[in-house]
Amino acid sequence: MAEIYRASTTAPVNIAVVKYWGKRDAKLNLPTNSSLSVTLSQADLRTLTTATCSSSYTGEDTLTLNGAPSDISGARTQACLRELRALRVAVEEKDAELPKISSFPLRIVSENNFPTAAGLASSAAGFAALVRAIADLYELPNSPTELSMIARQGSGSACRSLFGGYVAWQMGSQADGLDSKAVEVAPASHWPEMRALVLVASAAKKGVSSTSGMQQTVGTSDLFKERITNVVPKHMKLMEEAVAARDFAKFAEVTMKDSNSFHSTCADTYPPIYYMNDVSRAAVRAVEAINAAAGKTIAAYTFDAGPNCVVYYLEKDTAAVVGTFYNLLASTEGWKAEAKSYASSGVQLEEAVATLI
Ligand code: DP6
Repeated sequence: MAEIYRASTTAPVNIAVVKYWGKRDAKLNLPTNSSLSVTLSQADLRTLTTATCSSSYTGEDTLTLNGAPSDISGARTQACLRELRALRVAVEEKDAELPKISSFPLRIVSENNFPTAAGLASSAAGFAALVRAIADLYELPNSPTELSMIARQGSGSACRSLFGGYVAWQMGSQADGLDSKAVEVAPASHWPEMRALVLVASAAKKGVSSTSGMQQTVGTSDLFKERITNVVPKHMKLMEEAVAARDFAKFAEVTMKDSNSFHSTCADTYPPIYYMNDVSRAAVRAVEAINAAAGKTIAAYTFDAGPNCVVYYLEKDTAAVVGTFYNLLASTEGWKAEAKSYASSGVQLEEAVATLI
């Protein structure tokens, strides 16, 4: 029997507090601005990927995602596989003793452990896990930052999931993309009190995909130019300072302003794109009420390309933040709170899945 080579890995979900929105090069997936995210705990939200290869395998590479065959003929997945293989070929050329596994077909099996109903984008964790698993299978010596440049080509936000904690994706300026990469701003242990609450306003698949939405924004929004020239550079600087100083009020203000700025450029897109809905706006008001009642900023909302809300807060304010949301969801007409909570290590996560009916 021919040997089967195997590696398994997990990659976590990340939620940006300074958002990536816009590509300057769609082929290499180079962004129009830098971004910064918090990686959530792997205990609750992660993709588990196993990559195997063998001389006994025949045919093309395959991917099985959550139990079903998945099409990997797209340019983005192919770019990741091509780059990883090229790195393995280089390793094999250097060391003649190594088995020539780069020529074997790959069988990749991937599972998300978060409910699809959580409505969370899975491409970030998915591509990060795919790249890490194959890099491990090929025993590549490359650093997470080097691998982030490959994951970026699968999905931009995926490059940030190669790290835990607080992660910046530096946009870079080179045309070849070799300086567009993820770097660690601070490990999770730097600010272990950080928590995230995920509120699901709708588990339905989003109307306009990130890839297409951001291209429309780049092409038509004047506000977008202001965002990438002035707003994001300011937010990146303030956010890095806030994380370094563990200044939650500052972290929260920049998080909320950046989410507002991003959704404003979506509304300024022609025709406009609306990701947030009435439920999302109710969550914004709830966060404002929580902060007003506390007399200081203890909660921060942020929204990606969909209506679901992620609320960041500190562990000591759990009762005020999560408690208020549970009460609100349970008592507001039209809401049904189906709460699921998790506690975990790393950047700890408390998740409430609340479904609007
Ligand atoms: C709003 O990374 O999904 O979540 O590079 O086209 O795959 P592609 O886009 P993707 O966009 C994420 C957009 C965002 C903001 C963010 O995560 O920074």
